[in-house]
Order: sequence, then structure tokens, then C-alpha cells
Amino acid sequence: MKLELTDEQQMIQAMAREFAESEIAPIAGEIDREARYPHETIKRMGELGLMGIFIPEKWGGAGADTVSYALALVEIARACGSHAVVMSVNNSLFCDPIYKFGDDTQREKFLRPVASGHEKGCFALTEPQAGSDATNQETLAVRDGEHYVVNGRKLFVTSGREASVAMVFCQTDRAKGHHGISALLIEKGTPGFLVSKLEDKLGIRASDTAELVFEDCRVPVANRLGEEGMGFTIAMKALDGGRIGIAAQALGLASGACDRAIAYARQRKSFGVPIAQHQMVQWMLADMTTAIEGARLLVLRAAALKDAGQPYGTASAMAKLFASEIAMKVTTDAVQVHGGYGFIKEYEVERYFRDAKITQIYEGTSQIQKLVIARAVLGERA
Ligand code: CAA
Repeated sequence: MKLELTDEQQMIQAMAREFAESEIAPIAGEIDREARYPHETIKRMGELGLMGIFIPEKWGGAGADTVSYALALVEIARACGSHAVVMSVNNSLFCDPIYKFGDDTQREKFLRPVASGHEKGCFALTEPQAGSDATNQETLAVRDGEHYVVNGRKLFVTSGREASVAMVFCQTDRAKGHHGISALLIEKGTPGFLVSKLEDKLGIRASDTAELVFEDCRVPVANRLGEEGMGFTIAMKALDGGRIGIAAQALGLASGACDRAIAYARQRKSFGVPIAQHQMVQWMLADMTTAIEGARLLVLRAAALKDAGQPYGTASAMAKLFASEIAMKVTTDAVQVHGGYGFIKEYEVERYFRDAKITQIYEGTSQIQKLVIARAVLGERA
């Protein structure tokens, strides 16, 4: 097994790191405090090719691979979890399924502007009664000639306010259960499509998380992604890739918090020596860095399997499970290494700690990842 990165992967990683350190890190604390969406730096990410990084250049993307995507996302998340989730959702949950399941007209209209970073997309699956239980969709799309009439409510939609188009999962045939779910691309400005609420969150506060409401919203049949009834498969396949993105985000958060803990342990003195010389602190740092390297291998393995065209759903669930769990542990320990200073905003680790929590929840909770992994282990799914 080759563990070295290619020249191109290293170049993309270095570019993302340089950008994150010079342009994102200086504003990360402020946008978190103000819960302010960072329009300028997200726009710059589009210019750098980060918003559709593995989409072919033909469709507005950067034409890189999934490993480069993961490497770049880690670097962005090391500076700011909010920028990272916007990048992850745009790439994995919006661009990827349109590239895979869309026709050329849809790719031209919906993929190109979003993959090139001129516009943003969002993914609307969750509903009040359908979180982990994603098959339990109630948003209804009733066919009326060449349109669907959509009614329903979607929750916790990342980029729901900022996106110009939403991928919305609806029941087009309730009697068929999850085989009656279809994916519709619904543009902002379509009458009956409202952003009804913005969530006030514990972490990733600079990203927008919205509730979307559809009231007699007429959507052209031409905006349906894939065939009628394919929506749930599209959602699940998108999430297989999305979980690589969230795993990379979690890894980046762990890594950013750990860097700060190491720096602090070197300069903070107690009992006459830097705390890095106390064995109990050394053990914490050793555990933190070992967990991070373990997560890195799982994230890169899932990304490499996707690039190789091999099944990667179980690998991405494992990467997301492990990386998000260690992100919570590492960021908690980073606060601990900082002692009282870890609890105040000046030292930043509290932001990493707050941002890490959601990685155990969105795009499938840790419990759902275990379910997916267990089913694979038991031979119930490849
Ligand atoms: N790829 C393709 N198809 C898949 C699949 C996959 N990875 N996983 C499941 N399916 C198919 C199954 O084959 C099945 O189809 P058939 O009936 O034709 O065989 C169908 O989907 C239903 O699957 P199950 O019978 O396994 O359904 P279940 O209810 O027992 O389990 C689940 C499904 C795995 C729990 C799924 O609902 C799930 O992943 N839940 C978590 C939802 C989630 O991740 N939500 C994230 C919201 S988006 C978000 O967070 C975005 C954001 O903005 C950051």
C-alpha cells in the first residue's frame, strides 16, 4: 500500500494550508463570535477551486481527486470548522450527486455555477420527524402536468440561506415508501420556497443552518435528479461521500486543537517547568497525536477507495465515526491542557471543542455510522 501523496495532492494540500492560515485563521474567532457568514473567504475558496474540487473542469470544477479534497478540507478545518462544512456540503452533497445523476442540461444549469464557486448549493433531507430515520420523508411533491407541487418542511440545512439552489428530497409516491422518494432541484426565488428560520448554534456558528419551507411550490419536472423514486438512493450515495468530507473536517478540527495544545504546553510553566515536561501532559499529547494519525489513515483510505472506483460506503462510515469521536476527545483534552485558559475565548480551543460536537451528529450520528458498519460486517450490505 502506497502512503505517499502525489505531487498534485501535496500541492493542493499546501495551497489550502497557506490560504487557511493566511486568510481564514485571522477571522475565525471573530466570525464565530458574531455568527457571521464569511462571504469573502468562501468566494476566495471558489476562486481557488475548492468548492467543486473533484468535479471535472468541464463542469466548472477543479478536476482533482477525492484524496486532494480530503487533504484540502483538513487544512480548512484546522483553521475554521464553519468554512469546512460549507465546503464539504457544496462538494459532496450537492455537486457530486448532480455530476453522477444529473443530465447535461442539469449539469450546465445547476452544477457549473456551484462547482466553480459562483453560487452555492444545499442538501435538504432532514425533516422534523426524519433525522436518523431518513426514509420517513413527509415532504410531498404532487405531479401536475410538467411540474411538481411541493409542500413540506426541511430542517438543519447547511447553507440553506446562502445557497441559490436546494436539492430537496420529496415523496412523489407515498405508497412506495422510500422507493417513492425523488430528488428535486429547487431554485431560490421560486414562489412558495421560503427560508423560514436560521438556527442559533453551539458550534460552526459562521455557517448558516436553515429551515426551509415549501408551500405549493411549483417545480419543473425537468429539475428532477434521476428517475422518480431514485431519491433515497441518491441521498444515501451522496452521504457516503459526504461522510468523507465530515471525517476530514473532524480530523482538521482535532489537528488544529492539538497544535494549539502542543504550543501551549511548551510555553506554560507549572511547578517551575513547562507543562510539556510533566508526564501526565505528555501522555495526553501522545494519545491526541496518535488518534489524529489513526483518523488520517481512515480518512485517506476512504477517499482513495472512492478514487479507485471501489465500494467506499463502509470505509467512509468508519472514517466519519472514528474521526468525529477522536475530534471530540482531542478537542476536550486540548481544553484540559490549557486549564482555565482553555475555557475562555482568547485561546481558541473552546471554539474547536464546540465545533467538533456536530461532527458526531450531522451526516449520520455516530450511532448511525455503527449501524451502517455493523450491517456491512454482518454481510447485510457491501
Ligand atoms: N447506498 C445506496 N443505497 C443505500 C445505501 C447506500 N449507502 N444505504 C441504504 N441504501 C438503500 C437500501 O439498499 C434500501 O434500499 P432497498 O429497500 O431497495 O434495498 C434503502 O436505502 C433503505 O435502506 P435500509 O433498509 O437500510 O433503511 P433503514 O431505515 O434501516 O436505514 C439509514 C437507513 C442507514 C439509517 C439511513 O436512513 C441513514 O443513513 N440515516 C442517517 C441520515 C443522515 O445521514 N442524515 C444526514 C442529513 S444531511 C446533513 O446532515 C446535511 C448537512 O447539511 C450537513
